[in-house]
Amino acid sequence: MKVLVFDNYDEASAQAAQLVEAQVLENAQSVLGLATGSTPIGLYKNLIEGVKTRGVSYKNVSTINLDEYIGLPTDHSESYHTFMAENLFNHIDIAIDNTYVPNGMAVSPEEECVRYEEIIDRVGPIDLQILGIGTNGHIGFNEPGTDPESLTHVVELVASTRESNARFFPSIDDVPTHAVTTGIKSILKSKKIILIASGASKAEAVKQLLSKEISQDFPASYLWNHDDVTLIVDQDAYSLV
Ligand code: F6R
Repeated sequence: MKVLVFDNYDEASAQAAQLVEAQVLENAQSVLGLATGSTPIGLYKNLIEGVKTRGVSYKNVSTINLDEYIGLPTDHSESYHTFMAENLFNHIDIAIDNTYVPNGMAVSPEEECVRYEEIIDRVGPIDLQILGIGTNGHIGFNEPGTDPESLTHVVELVASTRESNARFFPSIDDVPTHAVTTGIKSILKSKKIILIASGASKAEAVKQLLSKEISQDFPASYLWNHDDVTLIVDQDAYSLV
């Protein structure tokens, strides 16, 4: 794992964007694995800027998102479909048919998981996967205890994850209880992985990750089983290392 430490969130985001743009410039048909949440917003702002000012094009790029809440319609303000449209897709020249996010409204979430894993294998392999990290070490919605052999599956969100995502909903009761997430094995199929961690709230998680102890209690630790992972952190997230 390569570790890059930056003074602040903006510098970390700019570095992540540089790596994504290098990937897209090297292969215009790249497949990017994308995350939602607060962490990648700065990266996405930089990518939008890159289209406007550096002539980067996503016309032939495909994207595959990590996860989606179950039970939120695609156009719900807090669905990850909406998040991706608002924070990236609406502002770059990507073909929306080449963007994939799990369908949280599928009649059978289990069948949706099978369909989505097939997309990862057919459209992929993902050239570059972007990840954030939960304070409990989750990646995607792979909470502690997740089987390292897991493919796309349905998860029940743990209380801490629902609490931390409650900031986006009117109340904690409105936070969905389940999600579809790509699994740990699905994520590790990616050719390259970038994990971004920012802010003091992630300092414990970054410390745990960099202890190199691989454990089912800390899903991000399975990234040590991949040979091309770059951790991009800011000083606050790195402060306990
Ligand atoms: C989002 C995702 C999650 C987040 C993680 C960190 O698609 O898969 O694993 O990356 O919860 O969230 P933030 O960035 O909001 O701290």
